Amino acid sequence: MGRVIVFGSMNMDLTVECDRMPRAGETIEGRGFLSNAGGKGANQAVAAARMGAETHMVAAVGRDAFGDELISQLADAGVGCAGVCPVDGSATGIATIIRTSGDNRIILSPGANHALVAADVSAALDDLAEYGDVFLTQLECDPETTFAAIREAHGRGLYTIVNPAPAQVLPEGLLGCVDLVCVNETECHTICGVLPTDDETCLAASDALMGQGATTVVVTLGSHGAFARDASQALAMPALPAEVVDTTCAGDTFLGSLVASHLAGIDLAEAMGRATCASSIAVSRLGAQRSIPSLVEVDRLFDDVRPRPRTILSA
Ligand code: RIB
Repeated sequence: MGRVIVFGSMNMDLTVECDRMPRAGETIEGRGFLSNAGGKGANQAVAAARMGAETHMVAAVGRDAFGDELISQLADAGVGCAGVCPVDGSATGIATIIRTSGDNRIILSPGANHALVAADVSAALDDLAEYGDVFLTQLECDPETTFAAIREAHGRGLYTIVNPAPAQVLPEGLLGCVDLVCVNETECHTICGVLPTDDETCLAASDALMGQGATTVVVTLGSHGAFARDASQALAMPALPAEVVDTTCAGDTFLGSLVASHLAGIDLAEAMGRATCASSIAVSRLGAQRSIPSLVEVDRLFDDVRPRPRTILSA
């Protein structure tokens, strides 16, 4: 079976809950402070590994206590860390997260996440990647490095998956190097100008993203579920009911699970069902990587519920 190579961010998430956002100049009291391992790249790597995929991380952290802790937790989750470089001169990435009523707002200080350049990722791919592996990335590292890495991974024959988060406009033609693009509502709107809210707008968004070159499009819609489209079908997957505690890592868990299913040869409809189970467990728990379920937990929920997407289009 192929492997997953994730080039992405590693952050220490410093998170606190409060009843509402403070106004400018105001101090309010919060509760439930938690410092825990996060970063979109590392979260997706942990999710893929917990779902059974051999996974390797390419990333940078600072030479500091947070960096050491993030590497150690990633290794404990079963992710290969030979491609994680401690660097001088930058602190480990930090995400300050404010949780209100199960929702969250994040301020990111990328620090060492911006330290790697295209040649570093290329060297890591020389060491780790083989034709047919999956290359997975997001937009929390240096944009130029990330865009170059996507082109290179595609050129090497890797199955290239991009989660363009946090949202930013992509260079023209980049989606032509992308096999699967996974976006949430705002990322979708930023990248193709369509805000996906229902079947019709999801189809319009997928038309636009496939028109720019993506082969498969997945749109996550929070409590409204998810949408997927490839050359032969368009699917709408409802969310499962969940007691929402913290949505921080829901999208990362969904995508990590989807990637592991892809490598296991599971078809898109079942993969969407499994990813929905995985993310519904993640939102019922506090934190980022610590909220990601094991494969055993996902299998159990999947076997109980057997979630199936609705077919909107088939070829
Ligand atoms: O997607 C969730 C992640 O976004 C958090 O873990 C935080 O680190 C931010 O990068």
